Formats: sequence, structure tokens, C-alpha cells
Amino acid sequence: MLVDNNVIFYLLIVWAVIVTILLIRMRQKHIKHINELRGDQKRQAEQTDAKEKRQAEQTDAKEVSEKLKGIAKDEFSAMITHELNTPLVPILGYCKMLKTSMLGRIDPEQLEAIEIIEKNAKRLEALIADIMDVRKLDLNKLRFKIDDLSIGAFFSNIDSDYKKILDGKKCQFVIDPYNKDLVIKTDKARLRQVFDNLISNSIKFVPESNGKIEIGCMKENGNLVFYVKDNGIGISQDKQKELFQKFYQIDTSERRSIGGTGLGLAISKGIVEKLGGIISVKSDGKTETTFYMKFPL
Ligand SMILES: Nc1ncnc2c1ncn2[C@@H]1O[C@H](COP(=O)(O)OP(=O)(O)OP(=O)(O)O)[C@@H](O)[C@H]1O
Ligand SMILES: [Mg+2]
Repeated sequence: MLVDNNVIFYLLIVWAVIVTILLIRMRQKHIKHINELRGDQKRQAEQTDAKEKRQAEQTDAKEVSEKLKGIAKDEFSAMITHELNTPLVPILGYCKMLKTSMLGRIDPEQLEAIEIIEKNAKRLEALIADIMDVRKLDLNKLRFKIDDLSIGAFFSNIDSDYKKILDGKKCQFVIDPYNKDLVIKTDKARLRQVFDNLISNSIKFVPESNGKIEIGCMKENGNLVFYVKDNGIGISQDKQKELFQKFYQIDTSERRSIGGTGLGLAISKGIVEKLGGIISVKSDGKTETTFYMKFPL
């Protein structure tokens, strides 16, 4: 059956119209999809910007808060050390006056009580001084006075200050005679502070009888090495790394009863390093310990 040409023509037109409509729809859909994608990207970019801005604001706020915390901490420790120190001045002053009978005669029992008050007030005074030193070391504000130091005179002062105490404890105190004629440039008072801490640590750990503490200095590869050696209970290898941290104390039954705050070695390390040296420790972990302080000559 022959189809009329006109019918075919009209069908073709309808088909063309339908295809055109479909194409237009598809294009509109495509454009919509692209617009949606662009919108998403824009939103994502805006979200990223906002997130970065928030993070930057948070970092700024954190830095400001850290700074404020730092200032508050410094002011707090300055205030505390000052407030703790102030009452100690009259306590120690009155102890001295009472002991010398300036305020009237006292009996032996009263004298003993006053000596206990004085001893504990002095302990508190030393602790406050340590806290202040730690704070100054942290803030890089510990002052040093560099001068000539005669090794001979330095050791002879230590000898006269400790000989009596150590004789009473039946502990041998040996000062090696090497390099006595040497004169070096350092801060005498600060170096003495380090020796005082190392010797007082040794005194705590030497045996009650046959204790021995040896101090001295030797020249080694262009350096001057001071040392403090004792025949105490030693320090095991794994504890040696932690020793110089603030408030670190080795917790063993032998040591638990012995006093201290754990600041001495942290301060010693700070002082030695500020004086241009290195502090280190060597021990067999059982029967002896030596602390070394090495300074370039
Ligand atoms: N010669 C030593 N022999 C054995 N252990 C030691 C010796 N020197 C230090 N130590 C250990 O190291 C710890 C830290 O010593 P550090 O001098 O820092 O503090 P401290 O003596 O306890 O207190 P502070 O010195 O503040 O009064 C001591 O508590 C002790 O456990
Ligand atoms: Mg100590």
C-alpha cells in the first residue's frame, strides 16, 4: 500500500519537532547540571575559605592565650616566690636574735626548738631560691658575673666548708691536687652552686661508714673537666637520661626517705650550659657515680 507523500512529510515534521524538543530539553538539563556543579564548587570554595579563616582565627586566639598564660605563669611564680620569701626574713632574723639571747636567756630545750625552726626556714629559703633560679633560667634572665677564678683557691674554699661536715659523717673528702695553679674565666658563685648541689647529692648517697667523695679537675683535649665522684648507690643507665629534668627524682626504697626537690641537677645543667660547658654523668649503677662538667679552655 502506497503511503501518501504528504503524510510522510507531516510525519517527518512531527518527528523533527519531537527530536528538536528533546534536544532542547537535554541541553537545558546539561546547562542546569553544569550550573549545579559550578554552584557546588563555589560553595565548596566558600566553605574552604571560611574554614581557613576560622582556623587562622583559632590559631591567633591560641597564640594570644598561650602568651597570656605565659605572662600569667611568670607573674604568678614571681608573686609566689616573693610572697613566700618575705615572711622568712623576720622568721630567720628572730631565730638569730633568740639564739644569741638578745631577747633574754633561753634554756637548752628552747634553743633546740629554735634551731629546728631555723633549719626548716633555711630549707624553705633554699627551695624558693631554686624555684627562682629555674624560672630565671627558663626566661634566660639568670645573671652571670665572669671573672678570674683560681682553681686552687676555689677548691680550698670548698675543702674548708665541707671538711668539718664530712669528718663528722666519717666520709673521706678528697680534693685532687692537679691544675691548682690554673686560672680560668668563669662565674665563681654559679660554679660553686653547681659543686654544692653535686656534693650535697653525693653526701646523701655515700655509705654511712667508708663513704668517699672526690672532686677535682683535669685537662682533656683542650677542655677543662671538673668532676665530683662518690662511692654511693650509683645511678642505673636507664635513669641517667632523665636526671637533668626538673623535679626528677629516682624513686627507689633507698632514696625515698632522702629529701630534696629534684631541681638541683636541672639548675646545674642550666648553669653549666650558660657558662659554655656540658654536664654529664657516669655510673656503674651500683657502687659509684661521677658527674663531669666540661668547659673549653
Ligand atoms: N650522686 C648520686 N648518687 C645517686 N643518685 C643521685 C646522685 N645524684 C643525684 N641522684 C639522683 O638524682 C635525683 C635528682 O637530683 P637533684 O640534685 O636534681 O635533686 P635532689 O637532690 O633530689 O633535690 P634538690 O637538689 O632540688 O634539693 C636525686 O633525687 C637522686 O635520686
Ligand atoms: Mg640535689
